[in-house]
Amino acid sequence: MNVLGIDIGGSALKGAPVNIKTGKLLAERHRIHTPKALSPKEMALAIKELAAHFKWTGPIGVGFPGVVHGGVIRTSANLHKDFIGLDASRLFGKVTGEKVGLVNDADAAGLAEVRFGAGKNRKGTILLLTFGTGVGSALFVDGKLYPNSEFGHLSIDGKSAEHFVSAAAKDRQKLSYKQWAKKVSAYLNQLETVLCPELIIVGGGISADHEKWFRHLKLRTPIVPAAFLNEAGIVGAALAAVK
Ligand code: BGC
Repeated sequence: MNVLGIDIGGSALKGAPVNIKTGKLLAERHRIHTPKALSPKEMALAIKELAAHFKWTGPIGVGFPGVVHGGVIRTSANLHKDFIGLDASRLFGKVTGEKVGLVNDADAAGLAEVRFGAGKNRKGTILLLTFGTGVGSALFVDGKLYPNSEFGHLSIDGKSAEHFVSAAAKDRQKLSYKQWAKKVSAYLNQLETVLCPELIIVGGGISADHEKWFRHLKLRTPIVPAAFLNEAGIVGAALAAVK
């Protein structure tokens, strides 16, 4: 079965049709830049545009960077605040005319990695983190997701950790990979201490550059890049849409 997977990020939405049996993209992914925070209605129209690009009819899965309960968005740290409390599954469904499933973006990436990627056939506790505009997390025990974990919002100096350790924070503060990795290392040490994962998987755009920064981390836990790199969110959003 094929599903259009869409990953809503801080500065763009990206999507591609996905074969959910194999996890393979069926076409090159398409990206729509969103330099300003789109309102829910504008986002729905952007999703419609993405579907039109692929002449898509059929189910759509959307990963959103916030807590998602059912089809309802509960938090929106880096996107428009009007998403909070919105049944976005319904709105996106109405505007596209298709059935739309909604999932947290990092949970989506984790689902793809555990099914097909770096966490495939692994038991125990796996923590996936995405470093982008924010920091997303997905926690798995024996392949089963604990939904909506929000470890990017652990507090450091009274602010969300993502304010210091996201990829956006690296750019904002003009940090080298080594300088940034030092902060990421301290952050990951906290997570190691409280969660004791057996594997950490890293997604988000910056996972493609893992060779530049993994070597600066001082961890007890094995750490690997997401096998799908930045496409994990698209694949997982598609997977989550049809249960
Ligand atoms: C949000 C998470 C999201 C992460 C990555 C955070 O600000 O609260 O839900 O997974 O950013 O996009």
